[in-house]
Amino acid sequence: MTSSIDNTLINATVTRREDQTDEIAVFELSSADGSALPVFEAGAHIDVVVAPDLVRQYSLSNAPGETTYRLGILNDPNSRGGSRQIHAELEAGAAIQISAPRNHFPLDLNAEHSLLIGGGIGITPMIAMAYALKQADKSFELHYCTRSEHKAAFLDELKREFGEQLVLHFDDAGEDQRIDPKTLAAARPGTHLYVCGPSGFMDWVIEQGKAAGLPDNQIHFEYFNAEVDISGEAFEVYAEASDITVQVGPSESIATALKAAGVKVQMSCEEGVCGTCICDVIEGTPDHRDHFLTDEEKDDNDQIALCCSRAKSSRLVVDI
Ligand code: FES
Repeated sequence: MTSSIDNTLINATVTRREDQTDEIAVFELSSADGSALPVFEAGAHIDVVVAPDLVRQYSLSNAPGETTYRLGILNDPNSRGGSRQIHAELEAGAAIQISAPRNHFPLDLNAEHSLLIGGGIGITPMIAMAYALKQADKSFELHYCTRSEHKAAFLDELKREFGEQLVLHFDDAGEDQRIDPKTLAAARPGTHLYVCGPSGFMDWVIEQGKAAGLPDNQIHFEYFNAEVDISGEAFEVYAEASDITVQVGPSESIATALKAAGVKVQMSCEEGVCGTCICDVIEGTPDHRDHFLTDEEKDDNDQIALCCSRAKSSRLVVDI
């Protein structure tokens, strides 16, 4: 796979904006020409073209099967511009370009039990999953972890739709409100664990799931941002399809070096979480730094995230 991005953009309209908390706005999108938007599966996200050179990914949070899309977007003070600009500029009636849905975070509807854990704005893909599990009449729990009740979006809807399957955890409500993923996962060995949220929170939940004995194929996650260290020894990259060789310096990324040499590299998050820059490796051994590929995919060493990963070998040949 040279790139996972679908270049076909859809013209959409913001049909509704609702500021549900002081940090989270919910946007509903419809096709600009009134046709149905492409169907999506739980866990899917879309690219949103915020500005010509600024594309961001957001999870779809409505029920699969609906022909409109709903996004919940946090006005993140640490954002590199995307969510801030959306909060400042995107009002009801605005035109916007989006991609068709893509799903790197699929739900296994055959699981005996599903434990959905959303931290903060990471609740958004979990809501779509909860709707899919409810529609399929499957066993699940939806855990929503936030700092406090007034920081939580979607609350009335979640209480109404999921009743006792919804469990709320508010940090400011004390220790006994805190989630214990290890105990929850250990209680039912056939459980599939899904988590999305801030990277430190996710790392902790994933560790807890592993400590509870869940195998890797029952632990599913989607990072939406991450701290990534791109530094290391210099190495050489040959971009085979472009027939260009570059040297990647100790503190630059492969993508930066390739772009400087005129190779077009599609990127979005630039921190190893979205998968837009994933490229096939033809020769050499990657030094994986991303949070997108699974451990198994990393072990295969036949794909690399060009925005952040490096090489363990002195030379890499990549298919771009
Ligand atoms: S641009 Fe998102 S993983 Fe590289």
